[in-house]
Amino acid sequence: MVLYDYTKSIRLTKRQKAEIIFHYQVDNINSNLSNQYLCNMYKNTLLYAIQAGAAQLQHYFNGSFTISNKEGINNLVTEADHASEKAIIEAIQNNFPDHFILSEETGEIKSNSEYKWIIDPIDGTVNFANGIPLCCVSIGLEKEGEMIMGAVYNPFMNELFFAQKGMGAYLNEKKISVSRKTTVIESCLVTGFPYTYLETPNGPLEIFQKLVKQGVPVRRLGSAAIDLCWVAAGRFDGFYEHKLQPWDTAAGFLMVEEAGGKITDFNGDYYSPYQPHLLATNGIIHDELLAYVKGEK
Ligand code: IPD
Ligand code: CA
Ligand code: CA
Repeated sequence: MVLYDYTKSIRLTKRQKAEIIFHYQVDNINSNLSNQYLCNMYKNTLLYAIQAGAAQLQHYFNGSFTISNKEGINNLVTEADHASEKAIIEAIQNNFPDHFILSEETGEIKSNSEYKWIIDPIDGTVNFANGIPLCCVSIGLEKEGEMIMGAVYNPFMNELFFAQKGMGAYLNEKKISVSRKTTVIESCLVTGFPYTYLETPNGPLEIFQKLVKQGVPVRRLGSAAIDLCWVAAGRFDGFYEHKLQPWDTAAGFLMVEEAGGKITDFNGDYYSPYQPHLLATNGIIHDELLAYVKGEK
């Protein structure tokens, strides 16, 4: 709202000036309040939706459920993935029926909205299907292409990670930050392996081999969203993986950034969840680990 055109010289009385300042301040307060109100609504919806999804994981875990294959024998989808996804989408659409949704099993629910919810109803489905409680629900919220909020919830460890752009990252409401390790050799790393692509020169196996041969502990949990959150929490010093999808990383990458870490693609350039290769670290070991990932070490 333009209150005063500074390019034209208009003489204002003292009273007019005071009125302008007053209206300007009230407008600012109102817009701050409505921003805050909206942010709270997004946060409440996000936390409600993630719990609704996680309740389905708890319901089906270790019980009986149908399992089917997507491409490849071990790329699975279970009844619980679908139930979690349905509960999450319902929770979001109850409050924001016109928002864009991108969810792993359903795909895109398109709209012209500037807001997009990116959902992984179970990250770590292979773990889930085998009764391994290392899996989670992951939801990120993007506004005009920028991730503004994200949550990752592993109900079996009762760990809820939450991050908001510019406001930090939290584990069960306690602020978290990345580790302070300074070299790769003293780091504890994590990675994942795609269902295909293992034979590529300087692909996942080569990088893994180089690090392990040097005695660096490299874990493989089976959930990219948890991997990212554990980098954010300082449990791991770095994480790299090939061929990830937006729903694997949307929430977790904001978590790492907000916890003070660094995320790039394998060229060291800005990372976007829409491109497949990701390197996330505490920032300090980033360039050194990048050299391994690029095959320069
Ligand atoms: C998988 C997990 C895994 C990663 C795979 C992903 P899903 O997601 O994040 O850690 O290695 O590339 O597809 O299939 O369990 O949702
Ligand atoms: Ca996933
Ligand atoms: Ca999934």
